[in-house]
Amino acid sequence: MTDQPISGVDLELVDVTKSYPGQERPAVDGLTLHVPAGEIVMFIGPSGCGKTTSLKMINRLIEPTSGTITIGGDDVRKQKVDELRRHIGYVIQGGSLFPHMTVAQNIALVPKLLKWDDKRVEARVDELLDLVNLDPGRYRDRYPRELSGGQQQRVGVARGLASDPPVVLMDEPFGAVDPITRSRLQDELMSIQSELRKTIVCVTHDIDEAVKLGDRICILQEGAQVAQYDTPEHVLAAPANRFVEDFVGAGSGLKQLTLTRVDDIELRSWPTASVGEPVAEVLARAGQAGESSVIVLDQRRRPRAWCWVRDLEGQDRVPPPAGDEVLGVDRRATLNDALDDMLSSSYGAAVVTGRRDEFLGVVDFASVTRHIQETAQQVEASAGSGPDGTERT
Ligand SMILES: Nc1ncnc2c1ncn2[C@@H]1O[C@H](COP(=O)(O)OP(=O)(O)OP(=O)(O)O)[C@@H](O)[C@H]1O
Ligand SMILES: [Mg+2]
Repeated sequence: MTDQPISGVDLELVDVTKSYPGQERPAVDGLTLHVPAGEIVMFIGPSGCGKTTSLKMINRLIEPTSGTITIGGDDVRKQKVDELRRHIGYVIQGGSLFPHMTVAQNIALVPKLLKWDDKRVEARVDELLDLVNLDPGRYRDRYPRELSGGQQQRVGVARGLASDPPVVLMDEPFGAVDPITRSRLQDELMSIQSELRKTIVCVTHDIDEAVKLGDRICILQEGAQVAQYDTPEHVLAAPANRFVEDFVGAGSGLKQLTLTRVDDIELRSWPTASVGEPVAEVLARAGQAGESSVIVLDQRRRPRAWCWVRDLEGQDRVPPPAGDEVLGVDRRATLNDALDDMLSSSYGAAVVTGRRDEFLGVVDFASVTRHIQETAQQVEASAGSGPDGTERT
């Protein structure tokens, strides 16, 4: 994905079984799986198929009945449970923050257990808040109830990463937030992952999320039987059996849109305006570009608002936008996300942001349409290439 060094380690499950007392069949029945260092593997499968149980055996919140789990070659059973858990990040739905602790205290939990000195803990908290796009100055001392659901989830992710663990387990981390916040959180996770390259196992119920985030997808059937373990491209193009086919669902052609990143198509430039800048300069710039709208950027070059040129006329300087929202989709967002964004704005283009939400450019309808047509042609061409025309990766 990037050239950043891998900080994750290999994770290996060999013939792992969990039988709960009083249950006829094992919840997890002989699961064998290798998660390569630095990759994100998405677990997906019907309710009750054993996803959470499998995850919790990795950090020994549940003890396996039999089988072996190794992290970086070390058998998890040979380590002290507390010690083990401090080196495995764990993020669950809603963030599960302690309500009586501030954001900073929540994030600092594990580093404090690891006896980091106060200075280092403090610096780490701010660094992580920055990483998950929460301004440390504003959010450090808030209590969870003073945060939105999406913000709580961000803090949950920050807490999971606090001790810089090589392995992070996530159980439906973004399940409880609205679709737009969800897609932002997914983008943030991908951006964090491209910097940190951890080994991540993430449970989801959403095939689009699995396709978007996963280096590989592990589709599980009852008893955590692996129906297919493969790259998203392969799962979509060549489902291993009927079960996977049904799970992936109809319209996997359109799902290819979920496989394409905004990054994969060319961005267009667009005239911008900085808050406080003389309007005359902005008007000149928009005129040169032949556009009737501009994108207003704040001091950190984050896009804050679309603005029609005619609404600026007669003013001296560009006024600060209302609210504190940042516009746009991350460059790692999918074309699906970008289309959503375009459809909800009346400007016919989606603003694209990079690191720390910095403005990069826009994608417009024309470029997305062009891409859909090209993809359709490729799919057609490969479908005509023989009985098993599935070799398109
Ligand atoms: N503590 C427990 N005692 C007995 N049975 C359990 C226990 N925890 C889970 N099970 C059973 O084990 C099976 C797997 O449960 P698990 O929670 O791992 O499923 P899951 O795939 O995470 O489901 P979901 O998608 O609904 O979260 C289910 O049949 C469940 O009823
Ligand atoms: Mg579960």
